[in-house]
Amino acid sequence: YGDGDPEAGKANATVCAGCHGQGGAQPIQPVYPKLSGLGEAYLFTQLRHIKSGDRQIPEMTGLLDNMSEQDLQDLAAYFNQQQMPIGQANPELVEQGKELFRGGSLAKGIPACSGCHNPQGMGNEPAAFPRLSGQHADYVVKQLKAYRDGERSTGAMSQIMIDIAAKLSDDEMEAVASYVSGL
Ligand code: HEM
Ligand code: HEM
Repeated sequence: YGDGDPEAGKANATVCAGCHGQGGAQPIQPVYPKLSGLGEAYLFTQLRHIKSGDRQIPEMTGLLDNMSEQDLQDLAAYFNQQQMPIGQANPELVEQGKELFRGGSLAKGIPACSGCHNPQGMGNEPAAFPRLSGQHADYVVKQLKAYRDGERSTGAMSQIMIDIAAKLSDDEMEAVASYVSGL
């Protein structure tokens, strides 16, 4: 990571703002992700999956076709540098979400999310573990269901989340998503 040029990325990022908002910080729909500060390595990996079609996003079809590897790296560097606005957790879900995020569940064999995504939800940049802090809760739930239902499967890294999502109930997904959105 760290090979991207944020200034060059900015020049290609205008079209992205139509859905992800200025700087990737204010998506136009709750199920669309914020891109700001997710981590350069993670963003680059996902852009490669989206471009190759391994990760299918109908809204982004064709959008990356004419972009080089360097263009994707530059976009990743640009969005990673933007400020992530933190949301507001649902007070009724926040405690359950916090418990799961920090401790997992011994009984259900769920590892603590914080072990990989960092106790503050900041992710792990070199490992390409994404930041979850501030992410839209509805988007987080949608991704957890996509992993569970076999709709997001892009190799070894995604398999980690597929195994975890298989053990989460819908209620647990909602709770942990709400917690991280305000973290
Ligand atoms: C997801 C980047 C343009 C709609 C993503 C993700 C990235 C990305 C990195 C994955 C985020 C994550 O895993 O957390 C970009 C860039 C764009 C762009 C760099 C400009 C070149 C657009 C546009 C639209 C759009 C124009 C809408 C027409 C979406 C949606 C998802 C997504 C709906 C989430 C899909 C899902 O549920 O998995 N984008 N995007 N994007 N993007 Fe874009
Ligand atoms: C991705 C949530 C535990 C490693 C993600 C994403 C979510 C998530 C929502 C997608 C982010 C996005 O699209 O922007 C959670 C929750 C956890 C948990 C709620 C606890 C219940 C873990 C653990 C690990 C891990 C313990 C490491 C062992 C990863 C990796 C990715 C990821 C590598 C990227 C996968 C890919 O390329 O598709 N996680 N996570 N997560 N998480 Fe977790």
